[in-house]
Amino acid sequence: MTATRPDGSWREVDEGWGRQASTFATLSEPSNCREYVALHHHLALNTGDRLLDVACGSGLALELASLRGALCAGIDASPRLLAVAADRVPQADLRVGDMQAMPWDDGSFDVVTSFRGIWGTTPDAVGEVHRVLAPGGRVGLTVWGHLKASPGVWALAPFRLATTAKVANQAAMVSLGRSGVGEELLAACGFADIRRVEIPFAWEFPDPAGYARALAATGPAYEAIQAVGEEAFLRHATEIARERVRDGLPLRAEIKVVGYLATKPAPSRLPRPPAEPSCAGFVAEAESTDDVERLYDEDIEDNGYVMNATRMWAHAPELHDRLFDLLALVSRDASLTTRQRGILIAAMSSTLGDSYCALAWGERLALNSTPQLATRLLIGDDTDLTEAEQALATWARHVVRDPSSTRVDDLEPLRRAGYADPAILAITAFIAIRMAFSIVNDALGLRPDAELGKSVPPQLRQAVTWGRPIADGTREHG
Ligand SMILES: C[S@@+](CC[C@H](N)C(=O)[O-])C[C@H]1O[C@@H](n2cnc3c(N)ncnc32)[C@H](O)[C@@H]1O
Repeated sequence: MTATRPDGSWREVDEGWGRQASTFATLSEPSNCREYVALHHHLALNTGDRLLDVACGSGLALELASLRGALCAGIDASPRLLAVAADRVPQADLRVGDMQAMPWDDGSFDVVTSFRGIWGTTPDAVGEVHRVLAPGGRVGLTVWGHLKASPGVWALAPFRLATTAKVANQAAMVSLGRSGVGEELLAACGFADIRRVEIPFAWEFPDPAGYARALAATGPAYEAIQAVGEEAFLRHATEIARERVRDGLPLRAEIKVVGYLATKPAPSRLPRPPAEPSCAGFVAEAESTDDVERLYDEDIEDNGYVMNATRMWAHAPELHDRLFDLLALVSRDASLTTRQRGILIAAMSSTLGDSYCALAWGERLALNSTPQLATRLLIGDDTDLTEAEQALATWARHVVRDPSSTRVDDLEPLRRAGYADPAILAITAFIAIRMAFSIVNDALGLRPDAELGKSVPPQLRQAVTWGRPIADGTREHG
């Protein structure tokens, strides 16, 4: 599918960028790898993330993302660069098109990246990035930073051989890197949690001729070549680089690159609903019966207090018991340890927006491992988990977020982790049943216990910014 814009001017981009696609892909693009790795790391790009790379060029960033387990898509105006990307990442959904009118539905991606692909001259692309991101999705954009303060700015100098008008346009393009400009644009497009980070960037070349050849394969070089001819461009670039040769070392040009990180706010997380008067949420506390007292006694034995959830479910003790028997059954079928159950519940509840289970199971996980692991997991960063645990967390998030979009390939990480079909069924049932429990709690206005709020590690409490607020500790009953 090809995106269209009324003026169609984006199609001209291929003249410059696609002209020497293989040379660009092999001699120029590999030097950008530091930038790709750093941004993916900042975004905690993970197995199962639906990723779109905007202005993906010849796709090296997508190839690296796919090695991290992301499900990749890319858009670029240059069909010849995209042909290289398709060769590198055949399973990716790659489209020739204009980033200012992208051919995907609203909310299609968990993560969107763009590596020096969105410029001051293409601000509409940021609105498009917001549209195609799912609520809660993360964006990471890089742009050139303070070029004059960059030791390697010499490597960009040959671009200035272009006509005055083209050089002025190049300057307008890099405006997004100036302090406050990118932040303002992202905020105006509806993004939150906007951060600016430094991104490592260094081009390396074997010798001046290698540098000149690599540079000549880029889009801005084509503008210079149109003005002075290819021979003059190569000669000029070679001369500039000669002055930078270092004995026994590659030519190296370190250039300042700015990274912008932000998220698309999830509506379910904002604003917090008002406080409810009853400890049992919107329903009154249950009348005392033997079964109700038994449930309360069990809680006091386990926690030292009666949980708000138990006060609400006390209206249906048999339903409560059967629900938890069922959870015990599927948990046994999948041989889930407490830690694994914690990972599934933390990933499920943070994706759903349930603060109660996120805090309760976040605390259990913190005790079982570290507060850092639990906190990171709740905000979608699985770096502290083993590969098998990451497979569980990713699957839980996908099941909650959009169960009808899962594909058979999504089970691969679980299979690699050693789960056979019966265990996969049981794990999925565990996630869904816990989700049902969370949905009932949330819909009926249940708030996390005040006692829980006091006992969870502070960093974990701060991380849970979604769902119903922690109860204030004034109990009317019991
Ligand atoms: C500086 S390159 C960056 C490419 C790639 N991200 C990388 O890291 O090498 C800019 C890219 O933007 C693409 N491009 C320019 N205008 C575009 C547009 N309107 N829509 C989509 N892609 C565009 C070019 O084809 C080129 O691949």
